[in-house]
Amino acid sequence: MIPRTHKIAVLPGDGIGPDVVREAIKVLLKIGERFNHRFEVKEALIGGAALDEVGVPLPSETLSLCKTSDAILLGAIGGSKWDNNPPELKPERALLSLRKELGLFANIRPAKIYSPLIDSSTLKSETIHDVDFIVVRELTGGLYYGEPRGIHEADDHKLAVNTMTYSDDEIERIAVVAFDAARKRRKRVCSVDKANVLECSRLWRSVVNEVARRYPDVELTHMYVDNCAMQLIRNPRQFDVIVTENLFGDILSDEAAMLTGSIGMLPSASLGGTVALYEPVHGSAPDIAGQGRANPIAAIASVAMMLRLSLHLVTEADAVEKAIHSALSQGYRTADICGLGESPVSTSTMGGIIVEQI
Ligand code: IPM
Ligand code: MG
Repeated sequence: MIPRTHKIAVLPGDGIGPDVVREAIKVLLKIGERFNHRFEVKEALIGGAALDEVGVPLPSETLSLCKTSDAILLGAIGGSKWDNNPPELKPERALLSLRKELGLFANIRPAKIYSPLIDSSTLKSETIHDVDFIVVRELTGGLYYGEPRGIHEADDHKLAVNTMTYSDDEIERIAVVAFDAARKRRKRVCSVDKANVLECSRLWRSVVNEVARRYPDVELTHMYVDNCAMQLIRNPRQFDVIVTENLFGDILSDEAAMLTGSIGMLPSASLGGTVALYEPVHGSAPDIAGQGRANPIAAIASVAMMLRLSLHLVTEADAVEKAIHSALSQGYRTADICGLGESPVSTSTMGGIIVEQI
């Protein structure tokens, strides 16, 4: 039988993006070889790399490649080089437009401790052992997109405006994603808001309560975002599925990532449209770009999520995750997760070792 071709759009982006994506593609192609799948990998420009090359952060060719692919793998975006660009010419704008254009309203960020790495966390191992939860972040609403926005100059002062808006439909669809995810896990949803202050959060809470009635088997709790930031480091094991709006989710998911010892370990999926996007949670880290110091595990774990969620290749996804575990159990560490007295391996060595385990 001729295997079906899976079309993957690859957007390496900026900083360490190309470094980690290269390793992720090695792993993907190895999976193809071992399980007899054809992956057609096409690269396109995004972010600062696209600005430098063609003058816009999200070229139309990149967008059309994404729209005609089965899944998208992104490296990272941004860097201080483009800090002084106007908003529409900042690298980050590419990611925001891509999310909106593709309707990717649900961002899933798992925070799971890899047991061999428990000592890399800045928190005590008794606090973080067995931590395993996901953050479901609303990704196309709230302050990131609300109008009006802008910086206005009056005679003697300046005024900056951003607007947080949420419709009941936007809240309902992300709540459904969270409850569905909880059903496949430990059946607990914690909805995070600031309902003591914000109208958006009051609507959020009432819509989430309504959706909860359709899921009597799932337990729902509510938590204010400031308390959640504190609970995440006090007792992270209490969480199963956290669902929250865009900006709160941006902040809490970085905090969640760091519980696990390194933000370099965690993948993410952005879902909701016809094609999904997978990317590491970490940023572009321009200071270590091209030096072989980046940790490719988050990008490789993003490939596992892609295999599972977009291509429905569950055995293959498991194989990638097992390979990551096995590389870690054998003691291989990149610099970011390396203990005192251990010597780190390079980005490509780590990628190569994970490929060998498959
Ligand atoms: C993320 C990033 C982005 C965001 C930036 C790069 C626009 O921090 O994916 O979490 O704020 O959403
Ligand atoms: Mg972020």
